Amino acid sequence: MLYRLLVRPLLYCLPAETAHHLIIFALRLIQNLPLGLWLLRVLFRTGRTQAVTALGQTFPHAVGLAAGFDKDARVFPALFALGFGFVEVGTVTAQAQPGNPRPRLFRLPRDRALVNRMGFNNLGAPAAAAQLRRLRRPPGTVLGINIGKTKVAPADEAIADYEASARLLAPYADYLVVNVSSPNTPGLRDLQAVSSLRPILIAVRRALDETVTARRVPLLVKIAPDLANEDINAIAQLANEIRLDGIIATNTTISRDGLLTPHDQVQALGAGGLSGAPLKHRALEVLRLLRDQVMPHITLISAGGIETVEDVRARLAAGAQLVQVYSALVFDGPSLPSRLARGLAPAPR
Ligand SMILES: Cc1cc2nc3c(=O)[nH]c(=O)nc-3n(C[C@H](O)[C@H](O)[C@H](O)COP(=O)(O)O)c2cc1C
Repeated sequence: MLYRLLVRPLLYCLPAETAHHLIIFALRLIQNLPLGLWLLRVLFRTGRTQAVTALGQTFPHAVGLAAGFDKDARVFPALFALGFGFVEVGTVTAQAQPGNPRPRLFRLPRDRALVNRMGFNNLGAPAAAAQLRRLRRPPGTVLGINIGKTKVAPADEAIADYEASARLLAPYADYLVVNVSSPNTPGLRDLQAVSSLRPILIAVRRALDETVTARRVPLLVKIAPDLANEDINAIAQLANEIRLDGIIATNTTISRDGLLTPHDQVQALGAGGLSGAPLKHRALEVLRLLRDQVMPHITLISAGGIETVEDVRARLAAGAQLVQVYSALVFDGPSLPSRLARGLAPAPR
């Protein structure tokens, strides 16, 4: 309520990316205060939650934060304190890179959607590893790390680029995601072709096993909603064949279909990935396709247009073990994760 009436109108006076940096700054400030994290936990209490077993570990509940919010792993302790069941940091690339020129993030409030062409702006895997070493992980939390290809790495060096990030980040990851689905790095989504994806996933799996020997770091791939259904089936078969641990579906879409925002306004924003409510239908469809094709032990994490407890329940009913949100957090504010967690909680005995 406070967020919608007071905070959101103020944030909307700022360009979307400036508002994002302001929030990251505020979260860092709070997490550095002696009682900051405690205060967040009290304000955003989840109560007793419905735990989920997936990827060989226990998640406090099914709702996590999708990649792209905490790209440099700076505020994940505060994000856990807001009540997320798990947090995925990144996308991290092997080398630091500035991303695309600004403006590169836009709100479409009428559609409860965002368009972004950030282009993997991040400080690089060595910096992310240093940050993950420095920040304390709250006990019982699950942290995913999402890796992508450095923009300047040519296609024939993609495997080595992913491998380098995996080696640096594996020690801090409860699971690792190979992102081949952002529309904002030229050629990246071509890596979803099974012939390109297979050697990347095999090399990253080997890198994880060689770097972390005391446990198995689960490996997942994140896919785009714009893939043809045959391509989704091909990725599902590959996942079965190489014993991948899971699939995250989906990333943002390049489609602009079905928006309420006038066409010329949408066109004026330029290229980028669309996220939020308009993605709901396709994300659910992709999830159902995957569930039909993958073996039962493969974990499916559904993302795209999840806003309410009903949305979460629909994804779980369609075969996801876990879900992730991003855009709804921008529209509904910091109480979203705790609200969803409470809504999914088992009935009191
Ligand atoms: C501003 C922004 C940045 C994003 N950056 C990344 C990213 O770096 N890596 C990634 O895998 N997904 C990224 N995503 C995609 C989200 O993780 C998620 O898959 C997508 O937004 C669909 O979920 P939603 O409809 O709840 O937002 C980004 C999304 C947004 C809105």
